[in-house]
Amino acid sequence: LITDIRLREVLDSRGNPTVEADVLTESGGFGRGAAPSGASTGEYEAIERPANEAIAAAREHAVPRLVGEAYAGNQREVDSILRAADGTDDFSEIGANSAVAISMAAAKAGADVLGAPLFQHLGGAFRGENFPTPLGNVVGGGEHAADATDIQEFLSAPVGAPSVAEAVFANAAVHAEVADLLGERGVPSGKGDEGAWAPSIDDSEAFEIVAEAVSTVEDDVGFEIGFGLDVAAAEMYDADAGVYEYGDTTRDTDEQIDYIAELVRKYDLVYVEDPLDENDYDAFAELTERVGDQTLVCGDDLFVTNTERLSEGIDRGAANSILIKPNQIGTLTDAFDAIELATEHGYDSVISHRSGETEDTTIAHLAVATDAPFIKTGAVGGERTAKLNELIRIADDAT
Ligand code: PGA
Ligand code: ZN
Repeated sequence: LITDIRLREVLDSRGNPTVEADVLTESGGFGRGAAPSGASTGEYEAIERPANEAIAAAREHAVPRLVGEAYAGNQREVDSILRAADGTDDFSEIGANSAVAISMAAAKAGADVLGAPLFQHLGGAFRGENFPTPLGNVVGGGEHAADATDIQEFLSAPVGAPSVAEAVFANAAVHAEVADLLGERGVPSGKGDEGAWAPSIDDSEAFEIVAEAVSTVEDDVGFEIGFGLDVAAAEMYDADAGVYEYGDTTRDTDEQIDYIAELVRKYDLVYVEDPLDENDYDAFAELTERVGDQTLVCGDDLFVTNTERLSEGIDRGAANSILIKPNQIGTLTDAFDAIELATEHGYDSVISHRSGETEDTTIAHLAVATDAPFIKTGAVGGERTAKLNELIRIADDAT
């Protein structure tokens, strides 16, 4: 039984305040969760409130309905109480940040009571054998860095790695190789919010550099490393003009579909996230029809981890995979339901961090618990390596 919930403001990786929750139980169980935060957020995401307001609202509405009432191990009950306490569809009362922090803290307290690792509590006794391939952000721009690439993320995808540890180290090696190649070209670079290099180069130069870095590391490690993108196209789309803006270049929707299809062909892309605007199911469907056999077409801002939006996508043939961010929808139960619906319909799930992160490792366990084929959680940087190193530990414990 939950006996106390403590909420506080802590720092996220951008230096902003975020919500941290501690859940304590009668039998001595303890769990702690902290909410991440997006910068290129989807229009249909659950609402993140300023941390102090979210905490005050959760203390008033949610904490009294959980303490002394719910068992931490009963995740569906905890999450449905959070929804009922909030009373809105999008967590605009207590904030999706308070909701997800409490939801994750309760899951960890539930695991603690059982004395089981979190992935096993979430996924059951038969989990922990399959490991997700980490997609490592190595060059980026968009909303994550000023004056860098138009495409938000250039991703290393070590699909041939024999172990999760080798995949994690391969992504870090690609990240380091990119730095060497930028150095050779005399291009200075800082890093964006997710730790990817954020040089002031155009997308075509970024493609050259990342393709070369991937192929160099592939030769070194001796297994296949693919190349992926998060275009985050909703951020480039001008709805009034009906065009995608790449600096001074614009592309209408048909041109954007052709452009992405050509990139898939030219760079043998294994993964393309949000290649089109978040409202354009039809364009997603057309691109999926054209390249869906060769590559994962993933909906992030399109689906926002929401089963209603995913159902619409399934009906219309839009995308063939879904990005899963628990804070986009507010609870672990909702995230699980989205993964289950995706799996039933042959859509792959990609569990994901946000650009603003904490040391919280829940998503690593969620990926293992649900047999997700991919996890997107950066390549380097403490709040990213927290998850990557947790995956390595889970794999080590399981073998
Ligand atoms: P965000 O970006 O966390 O800033 O929304 C990540 C993504 O678009 O996948
Ligand atoms: Zn995205």
